[in-house]
Amino acid sequence: MAETIRDPKIMRARILEARAAGKRVGFVPTMGALHPGHLRLVEKAVEESDVVAVSVFVNPCQFGPNEDYERYPRMFEADKTLLETKDVQWIFTPDVKDIYPHGDSINIALREVGDSLEGLIRPGHFSGVATVVLKLFNLVPAHRTYFGAKDWQQTRVVKQLIEDLHLSIELVVCPTVREADGLAMSSRNSYLSSDERRRAVGIVHALEKAKELWQANMPLADIESVMKKTMEDQGFSVDYAVIVDAESLKPTQCTGQKIALVAGHIGTTRLIDNCLLSHESEK
Ligand code: PAF
Repeated sequence: MAETIRDPKIMRARILEARAAGKRVGFVPTMGALHPGHLRLVEKAVEESDVVAVSVFVNPCQFGPNEDYERYPRMFEADKTLLETKDVQWIFTPDVKDIYPHGDSINIALREVGDSLEGLIRPGHFSGVATVVLKLFNLVPAHRTYFGAKDWQQTRVVKQLIEDLHLSIELVVCPTVREADGLAMSSRNSYLSSDERRRAVGIVHALEKAKELWQANMPLADIESVMKKTMEDQGFSVDYAVIVDAESLKPTQCTGQKIALVAGHIGTTRLIDNCLLSHESEK
């Protein structure tokens, strides 16, 4: 049975003991409201580790003033029950005051990778993510950490955080888990009314069109317009629908891996998604 830990010192001590005993430690950071996408990360961590810690912490510093921090679903008992079905050793659910003992007086500043796309629409978001992720990596000094590809830009931020700050943790990015109609699993899907849920699949159709038109060599700007229109036709207010370099997230012309990234609101709910693009000949 998983041990629930609130105290950061105890959490860190458990991980250091496990490491001293020669165990491989896996870590899955989450904000709770767990869905099958999170559980897939946990399963992968369990497959690849001797012991696994999952954090459940809704991080106030990554939400903007008009975002959904208060409304964000909190359902610890249900999350715990789900995690009990997996072979997880520790559930780390600290208090905000223990993660931010001096408030948000220390913050990681990001340039480049955190500036564009989500960073433009949600100023300060990636600073908040990078700060809490660094704190969590210090408190849960695991060998590997598991993140979902749905939040692609977040995975690039975490990759750069690890590289630039010379952290000794390995990032594993796992594929997006989807509903039967293709909608990416997200804790925010629970906000959708049944009509919004039906129309939300427009975000997936935009990505499917991007794939198809990319393979047909349509110019990028035209593909981006089609993606945007596909979402708008389903009632999305589109924040961005772009094709960029998958590593730098810049709209470069170089021949590296490209990714289509989309984000927008349907009603009051904000959804994001993405897909890597490859030509038939590269498959
Ligand atoms: O992806 C999330 O759930 C959050 O951004 C994370 C990585 C747990 C940091 O709060």
